[in-house]
Amino acid sequence: MKNAIGVFDSGVGGLTVAREIMRQLPNETIYYFGDVKNCPYGDKTKDEIIKNTEKAVEFLINQGVKMIVLACNTATAAALEYLQDRYNLPIIGVVQPGARRAIQATENNNVLVLGTQFTADSKVYDKEIKNINSDIVVYDKACPTFCPFIEAEGNLVEGATQKLLKDVLFDTKLLDIDTVVLGCTHYPILKKDIEEYYGNNIKVISSGHEAARDVSTVLGYAKLLQKKLNKTEHKFFISKESEHFNNIASKWLKHTIKAEVVDI
Ligand code: DGL
Repeated sequence: MKNAIGVFDSGVGGLTVAREIMRQLPNETIYYFGDVKNCPYGDKTKDEIIKNTEKAVEFLINQGVKMIVLACNTATAAALEYLQDRYNLPIIGVVQPGARRAIQATENNNVLVLGTQFTADSKVYDKEIKNINSDIVVYDKACPTFCPFIEAEGNLVEGATQKLLKDVLFDTKLLDIDTVVLGCTHYPILKKDIEEYYGNNIKVISSGHEAARDVSTVLGYAKLLQKKLNKTEHKFFISKESEHFNNIASKWLKHTIKAEVVDI
């Protein structure tokens, strides 16, 4: 029986989404795929991102998942529509849920989206938000140094995050924004620091966390929610051996994780 939720990211970022799904839906089983071999996605072309994402999604489908969550804004921007047209199981991304939450949160209609170079260039948030409310002004800011910083756990070095935020975000201080969307699933790791950077008076939204709520809506609607009795073990797959992935995953999810390496 197909009963796991497939969660995909280029690396560790989607673990912030997986963790939130585990918290909100404790009866569900997650099969996580981190494409560490091809990470980062943010500086790749649309075709490369589609190709890599599709391989991982096929792998997860072959493992018997009942739905797919693209827990990666970059993959969502590049590949969501393509995959939804191609496969007939529910596939959701993180952009729509984040966009909807931003529309709900902003009071002055000025929203800043932080993301990878690809996500910022794609203007995917701008499009999603404007489809619903064209009065909202969306500023896209590419933060290409954030992912490598988080992957290298630079945030554990005293003062390093504050310096990074100052270096990258200084020009956004001039914008009259009241809402910031973390348009990359790695960024929730820096959420508190980003809130502080903007003086704690701006709403900071994690697209991934919002997506976790959508998972229960989609599963509920499709009558696919898992009963406690059938709970099985979460599984983690990576496309290249990575102690680093295992260490971060174990730390973030608070139990020992040894991901299985698969050649896709
Ligand atoms: N975590 C991915 C996202 O949400 C990006 C990381 C990468 O560049 O691969 O966009």
